[in-house]
Amino acid sequence: MIDDREKTPRVMIAGTGAYLPERILTNAELETMVDTSDEWIVTRTGVRERRIARPDEATSDMAIPAAKQALEDAGVSAADLDLIIVGTVTPDMIFPNTACLVQSAIGATKALCFDLSAACSGFLYSMETARGLLLSGLYETALVIGADKMSAVTDWEDRGTCILFGDGAGAVVLKKTFTHRGIMATSFGADGSLGDLLMIPGGGSRCPASHESVEQRQHVVKMAGNNVFKHAVRCMTEAGREALEKAGLTIADVDWVIPHQANMRIVQAISDRVGIPMERFIVNLDRLGNTTAATVPLALDEGVRDGRIKRGDVLLSIVFGGGFTWGATVLEY
Ligand code: ACO
Repeated sequence: MIDDREKTPRVMIAGTGAYLPERILTNAELETMVDTSDEWIVTRTGVRERRIARPDEATSDMAIPAAKQALEDAGVSAADLDLIIVGTVTPDMIFPNTACLVQSAIGATKALCFDLSAACSGFLYSMETARGLLLSGLYETALVIGADKMSAVTDWEDRGTCILFGDGAGAVVLKKTFTHRGIMATSFGADGSLGDLLMIPGGGSRCPASHESVEQRQHVVKMAGNNVFKHAVRCMTEAGREALEKAGLTIADVDWVIPHQANMRIVQAISDRVGIPMERFIVNLDRLGNTTAATVPLALDEGVRDGRIKRGDVLLSIVFGGGFTWGATVLEY
């Protein structure tokens, strides 16, 4: 008789959750802040509006309600969590890490907690890290969150970036399974030699906060948009194809694509190149902008809650972000 110990474990998503700040910032309002137009923003990026957190609302304040919702959806108690990873580039502070703040708020008393910095790839990188730790046999249940308050690090005078970003948080509970395909294959990569094209230079040990660093606007996002755009399309397309190939699946097997969403033209280019029509993409960019590490878990939660994504569906998620970092994950929801 074969018992569970002789079968290969997999890791599956047991529940999802999301949180969005209430305040909506429209393109019309941005027109009064920088030299731009609703028409330019919609045509060049696809963004119509985005959510902006309150000044007193930090990244953990968004991560905590998303986490609670994911735990409820999964039917898992916080006390049973072994691991919490928060993908973020906008932690509440340098330390303690955001995962510890979440842990304390939800009462996950036995969880190992850390943040993971991979910009817009942060959620998928975190999910891959959690998968490895669960499959190692050391842990059973993980909470993975993608949360960012990009409005806190946006240069509100730079029309090339301030139109893009929004705030939010999304979460999943991951569990080990022997009966579900769960995460089937992944493909991840990074290229640190291109890091300068998308960065926040200030606030770390190379450029600590000082009067000069603030005057020189070192604590906000700097992006060579056009160059990032080209790399994003190439890396996301290749990662998506590779993950599908490793899973032994074709594009016909994919029910939904959940891409990172920085620009609708990037999403469209991936749809064209990978060969999966836009109708099978879960898109939130038009209403939420680029929510960095939160984009993928927010779109996933939306698709699950509105009934588009059903148990058994095959999902392909593809991301790209600062670092550069990128990756793709194929899973059965
Ligand atoms: N309103 C009006 N005009 C604008 C605006 C604006 N908001 N922003 C730029 N322009 C102008 C530029 O000044 C330029 O004018 P010029 O030709 O007179 O010099 C013109 O529009 C074209 O500028 P580009 O930068 O070439 O515009 P592009 O079509 O590349 O769009 C954008 C810019 C939206 C930033 C795009 O490059 C992009 O989306 N890049 C990818 C972003 C991305 O993928 N980021 C990765 C994830 S983010 C993360 O990891 C944190």
